[in-house]
Amino acid sequence: MRHFVYKTLDALQRAAEQTGAAHVHFAANPQEVRQVLAQSVRVGALTVGNSIAIQPMEGCDGTPDGNPDELTWRRYERFARGGAKLIWFEATAVRQDGRANMRQLWITPRNVGEFARLLARVRELHRQEWGSADDLLLPIQLTHSGRYSVPRRIIAYHNPYIDQMTGTPPEYPVIADDELERLEDDYVIAAGLALDAGFQAVDIKAVHGYLLSELLGAKTRDGRYGGPLENRLRFIRNVIGKLRAASGRRLLIAIRMNAFDGVPFGCEFETPYLYGWGVDAANPLREDLREVKQAISSFRECGVELLNISLGSPYYNPHIGRPFEKPDEGNYEQPEHPLTGVDRHFRIAAELQRAFPNLPIVGTGYSWLQKYAINAGAHNIAAGAIRFLGVGRGALAYPDFARDALEKGELDERRCCKTLTYCTYLMRQKFPSGCPPFDKEGYGQIIKLARHAAKEA
Ligand SMILES: Cc1cc2nc3c(=O)[nH]c(=O)nc-3n(C[C@H](O)[C@H](O)[C@H](O)COP(=O)(O)O)c2cc1C
Ligand code: SF4
Repeated sequence: MRHFVYKTLDALQRAAEQTGAAHVHFAANPQEVRQVLAQSVRVGALTVGNSIAIQPMEGCDGTPDGNPDELTWRRYERFARGGAKLIWFEATAVRQDGRANMRQLWITPRNVGEFARLLARVRELHRQEWGSADDLLLPIQLTHSGRYSVPRRIIAYHNPYIDQMTGTPPEYPVIADDELERLEDDYVIAAGLALDAGFQAVDIKAVHGYLLSELLGAKTRDGRYGGPLENRLRFIRNVIGKLRAASGRRLLIAIRMNAFDGVPFGCEFETPYLYGWGVDAANPLREDLREVKQAISSFRECGVELLNISLGSPYYNPHIGRPFEKPDEGNYEQPEHPLTGVDRHFRIAAELQRAFPNLPIVGTGYSWLQKYAINAGAHNIAAGAIRFLGVGRGALAYPDFARDALEKGELDERRCCKTLTYCTYLMRQKFPSGCPPFDKEGYGQIIKLARHAAKEA
């Protein structure tokens, strides 16, 4: 079913009202959009040159050793020229056994020089196009993929609904406390390498059901890392403490964190629902942000200076994290109007930004709005509902959207992501991920190969 049928901003605004998407509003005037998005943002001791962020977008195109490869370079070169001043570098594994695919980036002492070269290139290209890269911030997202690691899943606790979806038997062992403690050190080592490579910021990734995200919701886990909230925050707090001890304040610490996991789509759950993060136990289809706020306070105290809020899981409820027009092949259709999904993102991010006005938050879930994403972002920033407009798929399709946003206050409809989800399809087929419809030169051939491989399988 086609949802995005709006020819004007007024028509989209009316649809938001009719759908009950009460948090979806737009700045209509291109001049206002330009001005708001051009505002610089203070992040810790740094000043980021505008309010536009490119979300971390994994390309699954590294070498087997974890180095950035040709397509990785191409993606960041395009982002560098694009004009966003916050470019959130994609999921990068801290350990080989924490990679979600064999082409995921993985930072090691052997390849830190490659990361440094790529970073220098991004800064140089950005400087050439935009005059300065001093106000460009590139946090690197450090990850362990936990349950979605290959070849062997590593789980933090048993959520029977996710176990069922992922074929995890009830007797499958959970990662031991001692192993988690060692893993904290791997994060610190990887962050040190990131610093050596020239990154000014690291993101201790806790989103989308990967290991640290799962730990936040490990209410039924025993031991030092499960049960009470204090234990579930322990891993991230320990990493930050160790990082500060090792690197002082030379690295800015960011977190991309889920604020609401939801439940696996279509599962018949019982209440109270004892699993997950940010969910209301009495109705896990709704968020309950009390613990999320306590976690943010706690991370703030340890020195987190930038937060990027996301929701859901690409594996078990993709409509929550990335409202879409069309699912990837074989996946379920949108069970709600995408505006409801956009509204959920906006409502939750706004509640958190208002609760923590001094902590810059990057908002997520804008791409479904197509050319009006920047109007929504400008509205939300002006209203104090987020500090950065974060664009994910939209940036794969239109890597220089920020230029048009900043120069014209309008995007070119013909170049906007239509959330048709071929990028996810490529990822699922274990091919490098990009935007075949709007980047034929990069991915036209790759999608053909992926389809061919799927047919042969
Ligand atoms: C191909 C692809 C790769 C992604 N890679 C990452 C990643 O490395 N880290 C992350 O936190 N989120 C990742 N995401 C999620 C996006 O950052 C973003 O949260 C999501 O696409 C919703 O934002 P959008 O509506 O602007 O696309 C990825 C999404 C897609 C489609
Ligand atoms: S393939 Fe391109 S148009 Fe489709 S969702 Fe991904 S980025 Fe958007």
